[in-house]
This record gives sequence, C-alpha cells and structure tokens, in this order.
Amino acid sequence: MATEIQVPMLPLKGMRAFVTGGAQGIGAGICIGLARAGAAVAVVDIQTGKTQDIVDQIVAGGGMAIPISADICSEDDCRRAIDDAVAGLGGLDILVNCAAPGRNRNMLGKLSDVDWDTHQQIVLNASAILADAACDHLAASGHGAIVNISSVTSHSIAVDQCSWPYHVSKAGLDQFTRWLAVRFGGRGIRVNAVAPGLVDRDSGHKLTDNPQHRAVVEAIVPLGRAGHADDIAQAVVFLCSRQAAYITGQILTVDGGLGVAEVFGASLRAFKAGVEASS
Ligand SMILES: NC(=O)c1ccc[n+]([C@@H]2O[C@H](COP(=O)([O-])OP(=O)(O)OC[C@H]3O[C@@H](n4cnc5c(N)ncnc54)[C@H](O)[C@@H]3O)[C@@H](O)[C@H]2O)c1
Repeated sequence: MATEIQVPMLPLKGMRAFVTGGAQGIGAGICIGLARAGAAVAVVDIQTGKTQDIVDQIVAGGGMAIPISADICSEDDCRRAIDDAVAGLGGLDILVNCAAPGRNRNMLGKLSDVDWDTHQQIVLNASAILADAACDHLAASGHGAIVNISSVTSHSIAVDQCSWPYHVSKAGLDQFTRWLAVRFGGRGIRVNAVAPGLVDRDSGHKLTDNPQHRAVVEAIVPLGRAGHADDIAQAVVFLCSRQAAYITGQILTVDGGLGVAEVFGASLRAFKAGVEASS
C-alpha cells in the first residue's frame, strides 16, 4: 500500500504570530521568515517608523503583517499589544520574545541601576508578562508555540564583549523557557528558545565589514562565517511548525558550531589571524 506523502510548502499557513523587537536586526528577520512560511505577523517594537517599514516590506512581498507600537518595559503596553494583535489577526498561535536593549560593555563596579533594570525588564519581565497575556489565546489555537531568543552568552562568558546584566538576563530566560514548558505543556503550548552565536547585521555597520573582525569570525566559527538573521529565523520557523510538535523546553543553539569549537585552538587561531591582519 502506498504511503501518502504531503510536503507542507508553507509550514505556518494560517498561523498568527506576535514578534517583539521586530523593527530591525534578528527580530525583523524572524518576522520576514515567519511571513514567508505563511504566518500573519504582528510586528511589535518601540521604533514606530521602522516597524511600519518591516510591515510594508512583508505586505509588498505578498505576506500579511500589522504594526504594533509598544514599549515592552510597560506592563500596560505588553497587555494592550497582545489585545491589539488578537483583534488585528483574529487570534494568536505564536509568541516570539526577541527584543533586547542595546548592549553596553558594563563590567562589575560600573553597573548603573538603569542598565540592570532595563535588561531584566525587557528580557525577563516582558517575556513573562507577554506569555501570561498570550497563554489563553495560544491554548485556544490548539498548537500554540512560544520561542524566546536567548544567546550563547547565556551559558558562556564573552569577556569584554557584552554587559553582565545581558549574560545574566539571558541565562534567566533559558530557565524561564524550561519552567514555562513544564507549566504550559498541559495546555498544549510548546515553549523553546533559540540561542544565536555571532550574527551579522543586515544593514548599517556589519560585524564583518572590518577585515580583522572578519578574519577572527572565520577563524573561530567552525562553519567559517557569521550568522545571518535568516539563519535564526529558520530555526524559529521550525520550532513553531507542526514538524516540532513533540519538542518543548529546549534551547536550540544556532551558532555555526562556535560553542562546541575547541576553545584553546580557536582562541589561538583568532589571535594569530589578528596578528597577521595587523602586521
Ligand atoms: N546580534 C547578535 O549577534 C545576537 C547574538 C545572540 C543573541 N542575540 C539576541 O537576538 C535578539 C535580537 O538581537 P539584535 O542584534 O537583532 O538586536 P537589535 O538591537 O538590532 O534589535 C533589538 C530590537 O528590540 C527593540 N526594543 C528594545 N527595547 C524595546 C522596548 N522597550 N520595547 C519594544 N521594543 C524594544 C529595538 O527597538 C530593536 O528593534 C536579542 O534578543 C539579542 O539578545 C543577538
């Protein structure tokens, strides 16, 4: 007897997604990736003009998107944004917590209250409030999915690269992901995280514009390049799709192998590449 094979061309067709930090960078890439996979997307960000630009881009490409302007440091804004998305899209199947504050290189002893509070508010508090506000809608969808955007810095320390409130908030987000997966499993909502490594910007100042930086990235990343927003978006699409129906509570690292590279050898190669490039 022949087995019926059905290939889903648009794995998220008919689904409705809410993405924070969607106005630029990885968040914008995720909005576009979800729309390409068939989802209608609420692009949520504090930057109103850029949010509209991403919506226009998706709509011009034949996709469906709506802009939502919100400061997710405010609980009222978070809850209003979920209500607006549900009203605008007719429900909610997917929540992606991607927004993050700009990163300062804060070291211990130079921490401002504002920096600490902003990280905890945007990365942790907002993710929790949005999950709380969205959970009834996600449960009603029958295949609700939450994806939190973490970082490889949640479990390793990039000395002098990121502020420690950033590292700590992302580590908290990983544990929140596992906790939520257990709490929401019974309601049919899956909760996972994607942890990017070094991701290049799609516009403006790029990580790899500087030849010395590029040489270091090529030396330390086993796949020999920085990631792109679309690399992260594809992982998010998979985790939201029915193909991932039995995956929850997981942190999927998307870093070109950076995290499993042999640390000493990679550091030595990066050092040599840096020396060669500057001599
Ligand atoms: N870029 C990387 O190499 C990298 C690596 C690992 C993890 N990440 C994670 O990926 C995500 C996106 O990173 P990115 O580099 O694209 O960041 P980005 O700074 O380019 O974009 C962050 C977005 O969040 C929005 N935002 C900030 N505060 C907000 C608020 N209060 N309310 C609403 N929106 C707000 C910003 O307006 C911006 O559009 C972040 O969670 C980041 O921690 C990035």
